[in-house]
Amino acid sequence: MSNPDHPPAVGVLDQGPELIFPPGFLWGAATAAYQIEGAATEGGRTPSIWDTFSHTEGRVVAGHTGDVACDHYHRMPSDVRLMAELGLKSYRFSVSWPRVQPGGSGPANAEGLDFYRRLADELLGHGIEPWLTLYHWDLPQPLEDAGGWPARDTAGRFADYAELVADALGDRVRYWTTLNEPWCSAFLGYGSGVHAPGRSDGADAVRAGHHLMLGHGLAVQALRASRPHAQLGITVNLYPVTPASDAPADVDAARRIDALANRFFLDPVLRGSYPTDLAADLREVTDFGHVRDGDLAVISTPLDLVGVNYYSRHVVAAPVEGAEPEPYWRAPSCWPGSEDVRFVTRGVPVTDMDWEIDAPGLTETLRRVHDEYTDLPLYVTENGSAFVDAVIDGQVDDVDRLAYFDAHLRAAHEAINAGVPLRGYFAWSLMDNFEWAWGYTKRFGMVWIDYDSQARIPKSSARWYAEVIRRNGLAAQ
Ligand code: FCB
Repeated sequence: MSNPDHPPAVGVLDQGPELIFPPGFLWGAATAAYQIEGAATEGGRTPSIWDTFSHTEGRVVAGHTGDVACDHYHRMPSDVRLMAELGLKSYRFSVSWPRVQPGGSGPANAEGLDFYRRLADELLGHGIEPWLTLYHWDLPQPLEDAGGWPARDTAGRFADYAELVADALGDRVRYWTTLNEPWCSAFLGYGSGVHAPGRSDGADAVRAGHHLMLGHGLAVQALRASRPHAQLGITVNLYPVTPASDAPADVDAARRIDALANRFFLDPVLRGSYPTDLAADLREVTDFGHVRDGDLAVISTPLDLVGVNYYSRHVVAAPVEGAEPEPYWRAPSCWPGSEDVRFVTRGVPVTDMDWEIDAPGLTETLRRVHDEYTDLPLYVTENGSAFVDAVIDGQVDDVDRLAYFDAHLRAAHEAINAGVPLRGYFAWSLMDNFEWAWGYTKRFGMVWIDYDSQARIPKSSARWYAEVIRRNGLAAQ
């Protein structure tokens, strides 16, 4: 923003030669429907698994729900103006499936589609490229009642929904990603149960992962048929997985977690096969009998781009006798077949989520996808950090978040220098929002949300990011 009363918080851009990104680099910020929209029962929207989950006692911290969230559904035009003030080139949002196709099957809900049409038009009117994610975790509840993602039929329902959205928005939206982070949907939703729908069964998690990818492939085929010029992709959350030592048992632990976290999705989507070691690791959990002939060909339908969400690194080791299982994403139930692997904390700085800050891991991740999997353009579709913020004299000086972005953008730039075709970067998140099982207790936004008044306050990181976008680069260190 160019307001002279609010110069960038730190002077990093004023020192030395700049680190310039390629021309046309797509600078953006991301959000997701359930995390910001609110208006949970308005305009014909029906419940998703996250409505049910958040309204179930004990599932979300402090009983928070997405009923109101950031009230973005009602404040969309002014939120888009804010994006324009920040100079965003693109905005990544997700469509709420139960808003546009209540119940998850049957005809479209015109009022729901109209919201996203207006959003796309507002964005385009401000020169901001809309980037649409079809599924950011809000499965319509009736589809969960019919079996959810562990049921094969859900993949077909997803393709129908994709077609319906393509018909309505394909004239306005060029960039489409099918799924956001299928690992989370499958392993947090059906494995550990810390996310909706809160089920806990290793075989179901593996089946869910497969059917999510099958839905992705079918949706890509439907979108391609309907919108041949659209840019189509998927967003996966990837982690470098490092063994705690060179000991063979630690190296094997890292191999197992890498298979479940990364290769479970990268291999089918980009190579058309499951890793053989994964099937061996999971032999006690599932015989992969849910995989039918032809599925992997559908799953590996060619794409135009790959979206990578990056937050941290996993460091793992072989089990030790009597070790306590760790909470949350380290919960053994997230890692079927590898339940006794130990997640090691290194004592490096962490965010408010307790996620270790590891910027070089972003370079490593992007290089790996490019070197081992694909020449397709890559986009960082999410990267960011939660920290405890405070409003002081009407300002939020989020130096830690700003430093996190700065370090990760340098890491992204390094990947580009190494030959990775990285074409864009989306900060997570545009604004503070409903952080799933953590409710509103974790703030990831570049814009502060006052949940009582719904006031928006751009934090220091937002002003700094606006300057990065304006210069298309950072100062060299
Ligand atoms: C990712 C999710 C996103 C947000 C960030 C912090 O896993 O895609 O919705 O919760 O983490």
